[in-house]
Amino acid sequence: MHFDRESFLTAINANIQLTSQRNNSINKIKFPYNDLIVKLENVDTVYEGERIPTLHKVSMQVSKGELIFIVGPNGAGKTTILETICGILPISKGEVMVFGLSVKQEGPDIRKRIGYVIQGLEFEPNEPFLVKDVVMIGRSGLIGLGKRIKEADWEIVRASLQAVGMEDFWSRPIGKLSAGQHQKVMIANALAGEPELLLLDEPFANLDINARQEIYQLLLKLNQEAGVTILCVSHGSDIPKEVNRVVMLRQGKLVLDSNRITAVESKIYRAFVELSASEA
Ligand SMILES: Nc1ncnc2c1ncn2[C@@H]1O[C@H](COP(=O)(O)OP(=O)(O)O)[C@@H](O)[C@H]1O
Ligand SMILES: [Mg+2]
Repeated sequence: MHFDRESFLTAINANIQLTSQRNNSINKIKFPYNDLIVKLENVDTVYEGERIPTLHKVSMQVSKGELIFIVGPNGAGKTTILETICGILPISKGEVMVFGLSVKQEGPDIRKRIGYVIQGLEFEPNEPFLVKDVVMIGRSGLIGLGKRIKEADWEIVRASLQAVGMEDFWSRPIGKLSAGQHQKVMIANALAGEPELLLLDEPFANLDINARQEIYQLLLKLNQEAGVTILCVSHGSDIPKEVNRVVMLRQGKLVLDSNRITAVESKIYRAFVELSASEA
């Protein structure tokens, strides 16, 4: 599936009704499904000062338009794999390609097209940044250093906040929000960059069941209507039916990579669910 900017903007703007014309144009998009958006080949990621690689011999390919859940126990390497894809961690072996470009060489350009929601990022209670500014930061890669922010940029920031139901918090200081509100703002921050690829690190943590549902529906819309490729780290064991692929990491190795049904019925997945249940 191709990323489609108009559909993306429609998907994040809660106020725009989908016209039938728009719907038709979405349906007409032809999806070259073998289009590779992420490719990891035999990747080892080693943290600075460590000897043992945190990710070991990880190979994985992601096609445009996929919606993938990455699961696995704490410390398995889920966050590390997202940061490896972003190119913010050194790769000691293997190769990472994103959008057909090498992450080692083209990291900054690649990151302009990625929306990354960091796990559990917190701000100090006295942090002076306002919600709208935090979301605008998500557009800074697109706008470019030193370039003027235009009215259209603020419109997209507003639409991004609307999409997560946080437009009323526009000029609140970011440090004064609850954990769940904050999480929604960080998702808006990722949306504001009009990403073709969304990397979400436990985006549902801190959200109540209703907010989880709303955010999940939004992700689904972005994926299905705008062609945004989504890699979502989740430690929960329930995987929604629309997810087309499940990847499991354990001790830095990729131990499962299959469609949802096969994954949830596999021995390795059930062992993981039992382990999570015993830890809870
Ligand atoms: N900055 C770091 N330096 C050294 N080791 C790290 C660093 N960050 C994470 N690790 C280690 O890498 C492993 C994988 O971590 P992480 O990717 O955060 O796991 P997950 O997200 O699956 O819980 C863990 O053993 C963790 O302790
Ligand atoms: Mg993590």
